[in-house]
Amino acid sequence: MQIVLVEPEIPPNTGNVARLCAATKSVLHLIEPFGFKLDDSQLKRAGMDYWQHVEWHRWKNWTAFAEKIPTDVRLWFIESNGPKIYSEVKFAADDYLVFGRETAGLPKQLLETNRERWLRIPMFNDKSRSLNLSNCVALVLFEALRQHGFKGEIC
Ligand SMILES: C[S@@+](CC[C@H](N)C(=O)[O-])C[C@H]1O[C@@H](n2cnc3c(N)ncnc32)[C@H](O)[C@@H]1O
Repeated sequence: MQIVLVEPEIPPNTGNVARLCAATKSVLHLIEPFGFKLDDSQLKRAGMDYWQHVEWHRWKNWTAFAEKIPTDVRLWFIESNGPKIYSEVKFAADDYLVFGRETAGLPKQLLETNRERWLRIPMFNDKSRSLNLSNCVALVLFEALRQHGFKGEIC
């Protein structure tokens, strides 16, 4: 799978996602601007020594990323209030899962122009605005891997 973090701000979240990507052999795309420096100690600590095992790419902005990815791939936009629940759709192994930044989420316009690929994770308390970014990546990524029978698991 391909994981995309748009303008991540909190180092431990990105570090956790890097660790997830290492464990699942997913490719990580980080879209600038970041809310941290890439040599941030919290970023390294959360990713532990797994960064060296992650295939990751850094993109100057959304346009640079969107122009370079293959034209036939499918992007899923993971954001609260989406019309579909993430477990309702069938993921392909080369799909891109796109997540927004911690303070602002994904841009409204991006979501509205891709409504049919906007997925939400259900929440049950109206006092909760959103879930933690790295938890969201884990949930949706493992649903996609589950759909593919956890092919390639080492045990
Ligand atoms: C902390 S949230 C974004 C902040 C949020 N827009 C707010 O109202 O404060 C960071 C990212 O986690 C993901 N996320 C959080 N909760 C989600 C949910 N219930 N469904 C889908 N994605 C979610 C989205 O990708 C979101 O952009």
